[in-house]
Amino acid sequence: EKSGYEHFMLKEIFEQPKSVHDTMRGRLLVEEGVIKMAGIWDHIEKFKNANRIIIIACGTSWHAGLIGEYLIEEYARIPVEVEYASEFRYRNPIITDKDVVIAISQSGETADTMAALKLAKERGAFIYGICNVVDSSIARITDAGSYTHAGPEIGVASTKAFTAQLTILSLIALKLGKHNGNLGNADFMSLIAELDAIPKKIEDVLSSTHELVQDIAKDFINATNFLYLGRGYNYPAALEGALKLKEISYIHAEGYPAAEMKHGPIALIDENMPIVIIAPKKGHYDKIVSNVQEIKARKGKVIAVVNSGDTQVSQMSDYVIEIPETSECFSPIVASVPLQLLAYYIAVYRGANVDQPRNLAKSVTVE
Ligand code: M6R
Repeated sequence: EKSGYEHFMLKEIFEQPKSVHDTMRGRLLVEEGVIKMAGIWDHIEKFKNANRIIIIACGTSWHAGLIGEYLIEEYARIPVEVEYASEFRYRNPIITDKDVVIAISQSGETADTMAALKLAKERGAFIYGICNVVDSSIARITDAGSYTHAGPEIGVASTKAFTAQLTILSLIALKLGKHNGNLGNADFMSLIAELDAIPKKIEDVLSSTHELVQDIAKDFINATNFLYLGRGYNYPAALEGALKLKEISYIHAEGYPAAEMKHGPIALIDENMPIVIIAPKKGHYDKIVSNVQEIKARKGKVIAVVNSGDTQVSQMSDYVIEIPETSECFSPIVASVPLQLLAYYIAVYRGANVDQPRNLAKSVTVE
């Protein structure tokens, strides 16, 4: 059932053009200029009148939630908070019936997320689920929801579920923004056309970077630390890249917003520190250029994820991974793919069990 791939994780990375497409299918109707989502539409008043949206999740799903915050605040102008489910549930949070709580969970069985949702429900919030597993516990207790149609994810390290979650969050943000008038028609139309093109861009990235990333991975088999940096929408993508690496390769890795580097992590940079930097053209590019200069001045090894044709960051970097350009808000979907491959190959070359990393379970049903 690995369809010829050595591991489920690699198979699932390569399934992403299809899983993202499946997640949009029947929902994103580009020609009609419509996003159809029954779960949202049937409760549109709840979203329209919401004081705020609280997103709760754990791990990779929490990273998707952070990107959801950027998306929903930018396009729908509804205040969003993102919380670790485990923190939310134990801190007596302020929740009212004017809050919409969205839980994101691949498995739909994560104990902390489930408990946080129950608490939110008891306190009167409208609760919405973004789950991958149909009829899972979280899908059942929520008032409404949207399934990610990524298909079964077997590898413990989440890959295609993450990009499917980002797809759903993009659809929700654009739909709400269009509905409440914060997103004008012309912008809406160009964004949905761009979203529709994402599966093809993922496919292109997979074929253009697969071999290159394997070569890069070979140079970092003995690394003991990694930093991942990004700004804006790609800051959570940096967190996710770092999580992938630590989970399966057991190399310590940290994700940071690139501008935070000067507030601490810069002290760690020397010729032994590999730094993955996500630097697409749209989204604070000039600022990233200065971050790379600061890193190179300290001899850090830079692996840059840039748009095709990039020159400034590329010239300064030790390794360059090119990805196609897209709207800033969708760039984490495309940029995450080579980072998944990088984590995968580093782990494989280190002889690690990538599908079942030590100490981890696919769904964490204990606190
Ligand atoms: O099933 P969930 O999305 O609720 O799981 C949440 C986390 O346990 C999960 O994302 C975990 O961090 C993954 N192993 C990440 O690859």
